[in-house]
Order: sequence, then C-alpha cells, then structure tokens
Amino acid sequence: MRLAEIADKLERDGIFTGGPPQLFESAGRLQLSTLVREGLLPSSRVLDVGCGCLRAGYWLVRLLDPECYFGIEPNSLMLQAGLDHVLGPELRTAKRPLFDGNDKFDFSVFGVEFDAVLARSIWTHAPKSQIQIMLDGFAENSTPDAFFLTSYYPASWLSRGAADYSGTRWVGRSHTSAQPGQVYHKRRWIENECRSRGLFVQQLSDPPLNGQYWLKITKRNQPTELIA
Ligand SMILES: C[S@@+](CC[C@H](N)C(=O)[O-])C[C@H]1O[C@@H](n2cnc3c(N)ncnc32)[C@H](O)[C@@H]1O
Repeated sequence: MRLAEIADKLERDGIFTGGPPQLFESAGRLQLSTLVREGLLPSSRVLDVGCGCLRAGYWLVRLLDPECYFGIEPNSLMLQAGLDHVLGPELRTAKRPLFDGNDKFDFSVFGVEFDAVLARSIWTHAPKSQIQIMLDGFAENSTPDAFFLTSYYPASWLSRGAADYSGTRWVGRSHTSAQPGQVYHKRRWIENECRSRGLFVQQLSDPPLNGQYWLKITKRNQPTELIA
C-alpha cells in the first residue's frame, strides 16, 4: 500500500497521523531531507521527539544504521499503529529502533548522547515550559556537534490568532486530548532561551510547510545562512 493510502486508512480508523493525511508523505520526506542537508549521517543517533506514528521514522529508520533511531511517544495507540502499518515488522527487526513512552520530554531515558534531535509539529503545540525542558534535554544529552531541528509557528502581533502563547498546557491532539489546536511563539523568546543555555539558533530559509518554519539549534556557532 502507498504511504498516502496507509495514512488515509489510519485516519479512517481514528488514529491521528501527526497532521493532514495528504501531507503525511511530504512532511515525512521533508524531515528526512532537511536532516540530511543539515548534516545527518547513517551513523548518527537521532531522537525523534513525539514521533507519533512514524511519519519521519518511516524514512529515518531506512537510512540510519541499526539502533540509531530513537523515538519518544506517549500516545501508545499512535506509536503502535506506526510500528504495525507504517514501519512494519521486517524493518523493525533489521534496524532495531528504540522507543520510550514518557511524556516529560525526558531525553535521558535511553542513556545515549544524540547527534541529532528532531521535533516536528511539537513546539507548535507545546507551552514555553516544555520547550525549556526540551532545550535543557538537548544541551545535556547530545554530542558537541549535535543539532536540534524543530519546527514552530512564529507569533505575530499583527494577528490576534497568532499571539505569543503564554499558557502552561499542551494545545492539540496528544495522549490526553483529541482536540486539535496549535500555538505560536516569538522567535525573540526562543533566541533568548537558547542564548541563556549557551546554544545558537537560526531559522532556516526553507519555505514553510503547513505554516511551520524550521529552527536549527546547535552547541557551536555555525555560520548563519539566512534569517527569514
Ligand atoms: C502533531 S503530532 C506530530 C508527530 C510527529 N512529530 C510527526 O511529525 O508526525 C504531535 C505529537 O506529539 C505527541 N506528544 C504530545 N504530548 C507529548 C509529550 N508530553 N511528550 C512527547 N510527545 C508528546 C503527540 O502524541 C503527537 O504524536
């Protein structure tokens, strides 16, 4: 079955596939291609935060060496659907991806230093306190040359609907909610949070997909390509 058909079927069965099913293939492909362009190697250890039903994992597990893909996902139904229908048993056996169901954004559970951390469509739902935990988790559980690729919706004072999020709860579908929703954050706030941890952040110049822009966060200063 084609990937788009799998995503359609999962949605019909009541499984949230991480975004619009018609973007399931392109959003997964984009995560892989952006990670590769930004420096991913087959030997990289990659943490996929909120990996859902493996929209990115479908691609990443194929590329990466065995035991190099790590996923955190507290929605066990989503993850199981991904394992059964998106990844499949043969790849799981061959590549031995590792998973954890904690909902605390605890990156230390695997006892591994990551070369890359991915959070697609996560900061677009997370409150600032969870973003701070993820930044700490990246700083403490990654190699010196690691990068953190995360997407976000920039807050804008021009639109009341895109105001900077000051709430304390996750907004959107998850292991505890079936309600869709999204949040926006000011880039200035993110920059300050990174700076206070000795991290560097740049917004990548790629056009947004589904309104989300990529941020690349590193421990070492990298030449800024283009700030959109
Ligand atoms: C919009 S989906 C994106 C999924 C995946 N990153 C992708 O691109 O398909 C958001 C995901 O975050 C997960 N999530 C919600 N709360 C979480 C938490 N506290 N820790 C980790 N993941 C969480 C949801 O269950 C869901 O799978």
